Amino acid sequence: MSKVDVLLGLQWGDEGKGKVVDVLTPNYEVIARFQGGPNAGHTLEFDGKKYVLHTIPSGIFRPKAINVIGNGVVIDPVVLQKEIAALKLEGVDVDSRLLVSRKAHLILPTHRFLDAASEASKGKEKIGSTLKGIGPAYMDKTGRNGLRVGDLENPDFLKKYQELKDKHLQLLTFYKFDFDIKETEKLWFESLEELKKLKFINSEYFVHQCFEQGKNILAEGAQGSLLDIDFGTYPFVTSSNTTCAGACTGLGLPPSAIGRVIGIFKAYCTRVGSGPFVTELLDDVGEKIRQKGKEFGSTTGRARRCGWLDIPALKYACMVNGTTELFMMKSDVIAGFEKVKICTAYKINGKEIEGIPFDFTAQDIQPVYQELNGWKEFETVSKFKELPHELQSYIKFIEEKVGVPITLVSTGPGRNQTIFR
Ligand code: GDP
Ligand code: IMO
Ligand code: MG
Repeated sequence: MSKVDVLLGLQWGDEGKGKVVDVLTPNYEVIARFQGGPNAGHTLEFDGKKYVLHTIPSGIFRPKAINVIGNGVVIDPVVLQKEIAALKLEGVDVDSRLLVSRKAHLILPTHRFLDAASEASKGKEKIGSTLKGIGPAYMDKTGRNGLRVGDLENPDFLKKYQELKDKHLQLLTFYKFDFDIKETEKLWFESLEELKKLKFINSEYFVHQCFEQGKNILAEGAQGSLLDIDFGTYPFVTSSNTTCAGACTGLGLPPSAIGRVIGIFKAYCTRVGSGPFVTELLDDVGEKIRQKGKEFGSTTGRARRCGWLDIPALKYACMVNGTTELFMMKSDVIAGFEKVKICTAYKINGKEIEGIPFDFTAQDIQPVYQELNGWKEFETVSKFKELPHELQSYIKFIEEKVGVPITLVSTGPGRNQTIFR
C-alpha cells in the first residue's frame, strides 16, 4: 500500500514549499494542506507568471490533482474568496479540484481584531504576527469555542456566530484598539456565501479512502518547524503544529500511514517577524542576500531577516520530524560569494554546545562558523554533477553534518530549475 508523503519547511517558513509542491504534484493524486491558514504565502512561478496561495494547496494548478483543505487549517473566507477569484481569472477549475474539511475552523473578523490588539499591546515584545487572526482562531479551537466550516450547514450558525462575536467584543474592551466591525463583517458574510459553494467533506474519511485505494497523497505543510507551537522558538512561533505530527492530527491520519518525510530548507536562513535568529546578518552580506533572494514576505511584504545556514537548528528540525530526505532551495541566491559560512555549533556563555537551548533569549548565544569556498553564478543545469564543484561540496558538507540525504536541489523559482538526484 502506498503511504502519505509529507512535505514541510524546516526553518522559519518561506523555504519554497509552494514551488516544490507544484513541481511534485504530477506524481500525486491528492494534495492536502494540514495546518496554518492565511498567514502562509506559497509562491509558484511558471509560464512567466507568479501566483501566491494562502489557504489553497499548491497542487491546484495541475488539472489531475484533488486539493484538500484539511481539518487542521484555519480558514478566513475573505482571503479564500480572493484566492479563488484570482485562480478563476486564470481559468483554473477550482470547483472541481478543491475540497474543504467540515472540521476546519473559521477565522472571524473579531479574531483579526484580537490578533492586532494583542500585538499592539505587546509593544516591542510583539511576535510580529501576520495579523491574520491565526492565534485567536486556534485559541478558540483549543478553548472549545470555535466555529467550523460544517457549522455553516446548521440552522443555528448565526446564533453561534453572534455568541462568539459578543465574547470577542467583551475581550476587545480590555484593549484600547479601534476597529470597524460593520464593514469587515459585511465582507465576511458575503465571502461565506462563496465558501458555501465549495464542496465540504468529512476529510478524514476522504483521505482515508484515498489512502486505502492506494492513491498517492502529499501532505503540504505551512510555516516551518522553528515556528511550531511546541518545538519552535517559543513564544515567537505560530499557533499550530507545523511539524510532521501536525499532518496526522491535521488530516486524521495514523502515524503508520506516513511514508517519506521531505524537509525543505534554504541554503541560508530567513525569518520574518520577531524572535531569535543566531546566524542573522545585519550587515551588507545580509542585505545582498535579501535583495538577490527577493526576501520580502509573500503575505505581508515585510523584509525578511537573512543569515547563514544554521546546522544545529536544521538537525533539531530533522529530529522532531523524522525527516527522511532533504530538499535544498535557493542555492543560486548565495552564488557569487568568495566564501560562504555555515554555523556548525552554538557557543553559549563561551561554551560550545550540541543541540539548541530551551531559551534563546536568556543567554548570549554566538554562532560557531565553518567557512567554505563559495561558487560562481551558474546557468540552469539539469544534473547534480553539472553544478559548480564548490556547491556540490557545500551540499555534501550539510549531508554529513545533518545525516540526511539531500535529494533535490533548487536553483531558481521556475519549475525547470530543479535538480533531482
Ligand atoms: P513558501 O512559503 O515555503 O512556499 O515560500 P515563499 O513562496 O514564501 O518564498 C519562497 C520564494 O523563493 C518564492 O518567491 C519562490 O518563487 C522563490 N524560490 C523558490 N525556490 C527558489 C530557488 O531555488 N531560487 C530562487 N532564486 N528562488 C526560489
Ligand atoms: P509560509 O507557509 C514565514 C511568522 C510570522 C510571525 C509568526 C507568527 O509562507 O512559510 P502568525 O501570523 O502565525 O501569528 O505569525 O510566524 N509566520 C511566517 N513566516 N512564513 C510563513 O508561512 C509564516 N506564517 C507565519 O511572521 O513571526
Ligand atoms: Mg511563504
